[in-house]
Amino acid sequence: MEYNIKNGLHGEVNIPGDKSISHRGVMFGALANGTTEIYNFLRGADCLSTISCFAKLGVDIEATRDRIVVHGNGMRGLKAPSAILDCGNSGTTTRLISGILAAQPFTSTMVGDSSLKSRPMKRIITPLSMMGANIVSVLGNGCMPLRITGSQLHGIHYQSPVASAQVKSSILLAGLYADGVTSVTEPALSRNHTELMLNTFGANVTTSGTTATIEPAEELYGQKINVPGDISSAAYFIAAALIVPGSEVVLRNVGINHTRDGILTVCKNMGADISYENLTMKGEPSADLIVRYTPGLKGTVIEGDIIPKLIDEIPMIAIMACYADGTTIIRDAAELKVKESNRLRVMVDNLTAMGADIEETDDGMIIHGGKPLHGAVINSHNDHRVAMSFSIAALNCEGEVTITQKDCVNISYPRFYIDLKKLIHE
Ligand code: S3P
Repeated sequence: MEYNIKNGLHGEVNIPGDKSISHRGVMFGALANGTTEIYNFLRGADCLSTISCFAKLGVDIEATRDRIVVHGNGMRGLKAPSAILDCGNSGTTTRLISGILAAQPFTSTMVGDSSLKSRPMKRIITPLSMMGANIVSVLGNGCMPLRITGSQLHGIHYQSPVASAQVKSSILLAGLYADGVTSVTEPALSRNHTELMLNTFGANVTTSGTTATIEPAEELYGQKINVPGDISSAAYFIAAALIVPGSEVVLRNVGINHTRDGILTVCKNMGADISYENLTMKGEPSADLIVRYTPGLKGTVIEGDIIPKLIDEIPMIAIMACYADGTTIIRDAAELKVKESNRLRVMVDNLTAMGADIEETDDGMIIHGGKPLHGAVINSHNDHRVAMSFSIAALNCEGEVTITQKDCVNISYPRFYIDLKKLIHE
């Protein structure tokens, strides 16, 4: 791709629904009594994997023009799966459903694609086993396929070694079915969509600092859910507007939950021109973001508790840092090595190919900004966030950028290239 942009990016984007919240809507709706209606559901491949797993577990899920309708089976109404549960590329599907399946009166087997098969599952096998679950890695390597036979679970307190909402949510979902209270303490607070949404479904989840606690539940109740736009998807257009001269874009209905808004803090620290309109603070907070080209972005340090709040935005931030003056240091981000690809390695390799001054560290990256980027062949490793990030880098570099497997954006943002083109031509 080689873009011809004369006056920057202009126009509006309705940011598609949040991936994390869309997954949870289907899962909790499946376990609820009655009907759950989900508006602005993200129809990306990952969330469709969640729908397909619950369909195999006997849940009736309808897609209408503007919503997904889940006809819940109740907490004890899932059926033994009609086939192997294929989680595709989705870590969220795998880890959250595992917590549910650990308590069902049947055996399930879960598989995934080649990326998902190499991602660590011991992080859920360990705590779920402590709760009494019968969950094994079929190949004995701590990865998928997983085989889970339901059993009576016990409440535990788990000190998680990683700040991971997927791990936390898996344990909390198992905790719904346990015979006592379950709590999880994380080293830093990860996204809290499970805690917020389970409470609206009638469960009792409390939080104190980085500890979330759940009581066993008898029943959950179907809800109407309005999914805010995914800030992780908005991040690409935030970065694009900031780095392409002359740009001004409006990003509608972006979720700004405080456990997800690290990208906005980083942009502010870099000196970015972003303002907010139509702020809604009820439930999952959201706002429209107005982002303007900002010459002279400054390098920054990103470390510690903010990392889980921007974990999926680090590829895009690494590229922004190349356009900033001075040095950006990213630390405490070793989790990036076990995402859909090894995002530290993949970002450093591809940015180096484009001429950036960047080095990989044990747990992050050091980027010396200000060196012009040039075209290159980018290996996306079939990782949606890598493909989208480099589509933005391509907007502001000399020469052509070719991205391998660029359709992998379907995982989280099927309309990505369409929305990007609209901003270029408006
Ligand atoms: C997610 C949590 C994050 C994130 C992923 C979605 C979720 O993973 O990277 O894209 O929906 O819970 P971890 O919590 O494992 O870091």
